[in-house]
Amino acid sequence: MTKPLILVTGKDGQLGFELMQLSEQFNNQFNFLFVGRNELDLSNSDAIASFIKQHQPQYIVNCAAYTAVDKAETEQELAYAINATAPAVMAKVCAEMGCKLIHISTDYVFDGEKQQSYLPTDAIHPLNVYGSSKAAGEKLVAENSNDAVIIRTSWVYSSHGKNFVKAMLKLMSDRPEINVVADQIGCPTYAADLAEAIMKIICSNVVSTSTKIYHYSNTGNISWFQFAQAIQEIGEKDCKVNPIPSTAYPTPAKRSNYSVMDTSDIEKDFGVEIKDWKKSLEKCIHLL
Ligand SMILES: NC(=O)c1ccc[n+]([C@@H]2O[C@H](COP(=O)([O-])OP(=O)(O)OC[C@H]3O[C@@H](n4cnc5c(N)ncnc54)[C@H](OP(=O)(O)O)[C@@H]3O)[C@@H](O)[C@H]2O)c1
Repeated sequence: MTKPLILVTGKDGQLGFELMQLSEQFNNQFNFLFVGRNELDLSNSDAIASFIKQHQPQYIVNCAAYTAVDKAETEQELAYAINATAPAVMAKVCAEMGCKLIHISTDYVFDGEKQQSYLPTDAIHPLNVYGSSKAAGEKLVAENSNDAVIIRTSWVYSSHGKNFVKAMLKLMSDRPEINVVADQIGCPTYAADLAEAIMKIICSNVVSTSTKIYHYSNTGNISWFQFAQAIQEIGEKDCKVNPIPSTAYPTPAKRSNYSVMDTSDIEKDFGVEIKDWKKSLEKCIHLL
C-alpha cells in the first residue's frame, strides 16, 4: 500500500528543518516532500495550486511564512501574499482534494492587553503588519477549509536558522554586557518540540469536523530578559545581562507586552505533551 504523503513547506526555516530531522523516524509510515522557496515560491498562487494538484499529498504542513516582523511594516503586500493568500490557496485546494492542512500561526495576533493566558477563542487584535497578515491567514484558512488545524506558536528557536537563542549566544561571546527587554512576557517554543507535536497530531488520526485553532508553546511565563539569563547560564557565557524596558529598545513594528498562550486544547484533543521551556532550551544549546 502507498504511504500517505506529507508535503512540508518552509524546509529551510526553523520548523521545516526540525520536521525534516524528525521525519527520519516516520519514514516507515509516511512519504515526505520538503519544499523551500526554490521548489515552490509561495508568492505565486497559481504555482501553489498546481504543485499541490501535481503531488496529491494527504497532508500539508505549512511552515513557510514571511517572518521578518519589522520589515513587514514596509513590505505589507508581500507579507500578506505569503501569510494570507498562500495559506488560503492551500486550504482551498486541500478542501477540493481531501487533504488535511496544518497551518502555523502566531501569538502576534494578540495585543497583550489580557495579561492572562490567551485561549484560542479569545478575540484577536494584532499590533503590527506581520500579526495582521497572519491573522488574515487564519481567517482565510478557516473560510476555505472544514478540517484544517491552525497552530499558534510563540518565541520559536532551534539549532538551525536565525533566532533569539543563537543571537544571544553570539552577543554574549562578543560583549562583556548586553541589555535585554524585561517587560515583554511570553513562552519560548523549541521548534523540535513543535515538530513532535505536529507529527503527534498527524498520527492521532483525529477526525475534525471544523477548522480549529490551537496554541502550542513550551511551558513558561517569562520575559526576554529571563530567557536571556537562562541562555547565559546554560551556555556558560561570561557576560552581564541587564534588564531594560521596551521603551529603551524601539522597533519599527509594535510588540505586545504579554503573549502567554493556553495550550490545554492541543493537550486534550491530541495528547500532545507540553515540555518544560528550560529543559528544551538546554537540549538546543547542547546541540549548538
Ligand atoms: N520564529 C518565531 O519566533 C515564530 C513565532 C510565532 C510563530 N511563528 C510561525 O511559525 C512558523 C514557522 O516559523 P519559523 O521560525 O520556522 O520561520 P523561519 O525560520 O523564518 O522560516 C520561514 C521559511 O519560510 C520561507 N519563505 C518565506 N517566503 C517564502 C516564499 N515566498 N516562498 C517559499 N518559502 C518562503 C523562508 O524561506 P527562505 O529560507 O528562502 O527565506 C523560510 O525558510 C511560521 O508560520 C511563523 O509565522 C514563528
